Amino acid sequence: MQIHETIAATRVALKNAGRIVFVPTMGNLHEGHIALMKQARQHGDCVVASIFVNRLQFRPGEDFDKYPRTFNADGEKLVEAGVDHLFAPSEIELYPTPQRYVIEPPLEHATILEGEFRPGHFCGVATVVMKLFGVVQPHAALFGKKDYQQFMVLSAMVREFSLPIEIIPGETVRAADGLALSSRNGYLSPAERAEAPRLHRVLTKVVAAVRGGNRDFTALESNAKTELQAHGWIPDYVAVRRRLDLQSASASDNSLVVLAAARLGTTRLIDNLEI
Ligand code: PAF
Repeated sequence: MQIHETIAATRVALKNAGRIVFVPTMGNLHEGHIALMKQARQHGDCVVASIFVNRLQFRPGEDFDKYPRTFNADGEKLVEAGVDHLFAPSEIELYPTPQRYVIEPPLEHATILEGEFRPGHFCGVATVVMKLFGVVQPHAALFGKKDYQQFMVLSAMVREFSLPIEIIPGETVRAADGLALSSRNGYLSPAERAEAPRLHRVLTKVVAAVRGGNRDFTALESNAKTELQAHGWIPDYVAVRRRLDLQSASASDNSLVVLAAARLGTTRLIDNLEI
C-alpha cells in the first residue's frame, strides 16, 4: 500500500489507476471499515482509503481532541484488507487556509435528526468529502449505512452537483450482541459496553412492531425513548422516517427506517435499522 501525505503526490500516484473506488474515514478503523474496504475491491481496479479527522464536522465541546488517532494500527489493517493507496493529509495540507467556501446541505437535510443535535455537522462532512473527492477523483465511493443521514446527504450532494461518482452503501457491521461497530464504542466503560446493545434491541422492537402493522410511530418512538431512559440513557431522538429523504413518515409510507441517537454516560451512540 502506498501512503500519500500530500494532494500532489496522491494525484500523481492515481493518474493511471483505472477505476478508483474510494473509502473516506477518520481512522481508528474497525471491522465495519474493513468490510467497506473489501466491498470496495468488488467495484473497481484501485482501492483508495483516506484517514483524516475533520475538525470542521465537530462542534466546540465535541470529541475532536480525544478522537482516537491510531495511525500505525490502521495502516496495518488497510494493508491486510488489500487497500492500494492511503491518503493521509495533515490538517495544514487539507486546510492550508481557513475553509471559506463550504457546502451547505439544505436545511431539510441538515437540521433534522443528527443535524438538530449537531448543528453544522453535515456542512463539515459535505465540505471535507467534496475536497477529498477533488483530490482522489474517484469513480465510486463507499459510505456505511450506520451513518444513515450522512449517506443520504452525500448521495444528494453528488446527485445535485452532477458529480460523476457512484455512491455505494455498506451494511452496518455489528458485534455478536448487536451493538453497531463504531470508533466511539471505545469510550464506553465495561458496564456501559454491557448496556450498549440495548440501543439495537430497542430499534429491533420498533421494526417488529411496524412490520406487525403498528403505524402509531409517535407512540413507538416514545416507548423506545422511555425504555432507554429507564436504563440510564439520555436519548436525543428515536424516529421512524422515510428512507429516501428522512422526512416524517405517514401511516401509508412503506420504505421506512428507524433511527436513534442516545447518550450513555458521556458517549453518544447512533444506530438505525431499515424496516
Ligand atoms: O464517516 C466518517 O468517518 C466521516 O464523516 C467522513 C465521511 C470520513 C468525513 O470526514
